[in-house]
Amino acid sequence: MLTDALPRLRFAHLPTPIERLPRLSAQLGVELYVKRDDQTGLATGGNKTRKLEFLVAEALAQGADTLITGGATQSNHCRQTAAAAARHGMRCVLVLGGHAPAQLDGNNLLSTLLGAELRWCGNRARDDVMQATLEEEQASHAPYLIPYGGSNPTGATGYVAAVEELAAQLESGAAGVDRFDATVFASSSGGTQAGLALGVAALGLPTRVLGVSVDEQAAVLKARVADLANQTAARLGLSQRLGPDDIDVDAGYLGGGYAVVGDPEREAIRLAARTEGLLLDPVYTGRAFAGLLDRVRRGLHRPGERILFWHTGGEAALPAFRDVLFG
Ligand SMILES: Cc1ncc(COP(=O)(O)O)c(C=O)c1O
Repeated sequence: MLTDALPRLRFAHLPTPIERLPRLSAQLGVELYVKRDDQTGLATGGNKTRKLEFLVAEALAQGADTLITGGATQSNHCRQTAAAAARHGMRCVLVLGGHAPAQLDGNNLLSTLLGAELRWCGNRARDDVMQATLEEEQASHAPYLIPYGGSNPTGATGYVAAVEELAAQLESGAAGVDRFDATVFASSSGGTQAGLALGVAALGLPTRVLGVSVDEQAAVLKARVADLANQTAARLGLSQRLGPDDIDVDAGYLGGGYAVVGDPEREAIRLAARTEGLLLDPVYTGRAFAGLLDRVRRGLHRPGERILFWHTGGEAALPAFRDVLFG
């Protein structure tokens, strides 16, 4: 295994299924499949479960009893970290952007239910609150700090392992096909894309790895992902090195900004739900799928191209966006 250098816990529901989307494929004129990482487990599922198998293993190996991390008001990563902490008998402190809402909802409701302590940044910079929280916890506990999105080399390793899983599914026939021309997914803090890009390079899989940026200009995200992929390769003892030009990003769908739901996201969420019974989230997968729809409609993917949409989760946030889903 490419990831043998790092300790790993096994709590994710793996391998996640690969499903064909026959009705959307017929509508769009491409062969569309979905990799169900929304079903990885940990208080529903999502892409952070794979990262947390490595991150929590490292935390426990270091003797930690508390996980600290941070994110946006509706952070999926925080909800999944809270679940991982509960499952391993650890405390969890979450640093969330914005002010405490009048009523908890979506992910922050679930994080509270999972026993995490929520600290709202209000007008303070999140990095400052994270640092202050770490120092405070160090005085009384043994905390382990997980960066935003779990995107460091340890977390990204989860998506190197995911490529090995995909390769095995292609090889064994479990995918139903023997290759995908392109793999498309939502990219933000970059750990998912770094792991996928590195894994695909290391195994020599003939698939394009295309991240649809959720909140960052292409040049910034490409540099971040390449840097993280290279740090991850070094950690794992792999010889591959990637430059920003090796990282494929489409940043044409940033819309009104992070978590601002517009017509493209609304259309993508409704289309997937009503055509295939597939739930997407408003911030990440809805935006990425809207980007993919637009790219196919504009002819950026050839007719009949076989595309794997890697679903990264996030549906737990849906109730918190009830006011904008049907606008
Ligand atoms: C549902 C969902 N999809 C995609 C992403 C982006 O993944 P990454 O941060 O690894 O780029 C996130 C991360 O916050 C997420 O919650």
